[in-house]
Amino acid sequence: MNSETPHTAARADTAGNDQVPTATAGALPAQAVSVKGLTKTYKAAGKAPAKRALIDVDLDIPRGSLFGLLGPNGAGKSTLINILAGLVNKTSGTAEIWGFDIDTAMRQARAAIGVVPQELNIDPFFTPHELLELQAGLYGVPPAERRSDEILAAMGLADKATAYARTLSGGMRRRLMVAKAMVHQPPVLVLDEPTAGVDIELRQQLWANVRELNRAGTTVLLTTHYLEEAEELCDRIAIINHGKVIACDRTERLLARLDSKALTLIFDRDLTAIPEALAPFNPEQTDARRLLFHYHASDSPVPQILDAVCGAGLSVIDMSTEEADLEDIFLQLTRGAHDEAPEAPGKEPRGAEGSHNGGGNGAAG
Ligand SMILES: Nc1ncnc2c1ncn2[C@@H]1O[C@H](COP(=O)(O)OP(=O)(O)OP(=O)(O)O)[C@@H](O)[C@H]1O
Ligand SMILES: [Mg+2]
Repeated sequence: MNSETPHTAARADTAGNDQVPTATAGALPAQAVSVKGLTKTYKAAGKAPAKRALIDVDLDIPRGSLFGLLGPNGAGKSTLINILAGLVNKTSGTAEIWGFDIDTAMRQARAAIGVVPQELNIDPFFTPHELLELQAGLYGVPPAERRSDEILAAMGLADKATAYARTLSGGMRRRLMVAKAMVHQPPVLVLDEPTAGVDIELRQQLWANVRELNRAGTTVLLTTHYLEEAEELCDRIAIINHGKVIACDRTERLLARLDSKALTLIFDRDLTAIPEALAPFNPEQTDARRLLFHYHASDSPVPQILDAVCGAGLSVIDMSTEEADLEDIFLQLTRGAHDEAPEAPGKEPRGAEGSHNGGGNGAAG
């Protein structure tokens, strides 16, 4: 563990230390995290073949952002985070945290980041206050600079400060983990699946806490399965699938891609061809009586389509609409991304329902 306080480390400048290659005096880094060509292959073990969990990942997380890393099970989210946290060794590539290279300025890089792992591990026999003090000790934060009470209050745990951790609910434990990650006041906070298994009310609370930390200046990187969570909370989203970043954009720009909707019309009789009046809407005939229309929700042509249907003297007996969801965007993106060969033999180059192999987080590599 680190013996240097982040106050010195995270803000360390060149101060005669040529171990610190990138951070320059007084200047805050534009990117809180910057990853280039990051690749991780877990070695084969026993019958399990080698696994390429990250493939040539480039990712920049701007300082001050609330960044969501979104992807299905096994996509590589925890691997990426665990590399940043120093828990997993990368195979190749580079990563900088707050301008500090994780190889050449490891201590400063570690001090600049607080990580809440996917798996909760809290010693049940300590109180939240004791746990935070312990953690502060591990990070070498001098007693005078510790802010355990303040941090607990910020996470809505003030009234639990002296309760045994084992008496906390799941959501409270999650928040305690966030508090723990913040004791050394890192400028970058990383949350791996912060709301997995957290009920809606607590999820909202946790979101509020995270937003507040972000507003106060902490750059936040979180992973999630839930588009809705990323959408609500994050100003930027990267989508990762099969170890590759397949999209990375400002949230509103990414969501604009989700603007597509589909309308299915079912007619009372077989269609031998697409009626001329409907041709301008480019429908796809999915069976004898069904037409599928793709359109942008923002400029819905549904009234015109229905008018054209009437004009063509057709009768619709049923209809349905579908909105694009995360799975669609995955499918859409992965279709393009998999023109090259899939990375593992026998694996289907599919989208969202990719490798549901349970993750297997936390182990060093
Ligand atoms: N220690 C390990 N040894 C071998 N393979 C591993 C190890 N950790 C993860 N993997 C594999 O690497 C791939 C990426 O796993 P990772 O845990 O990074 O995914 P994730 O995106 O965090 O998934 P989840 O959403 O399930 O948490 C998976 O195929 C996983 O099985
Ligand atoms: Mg994970």
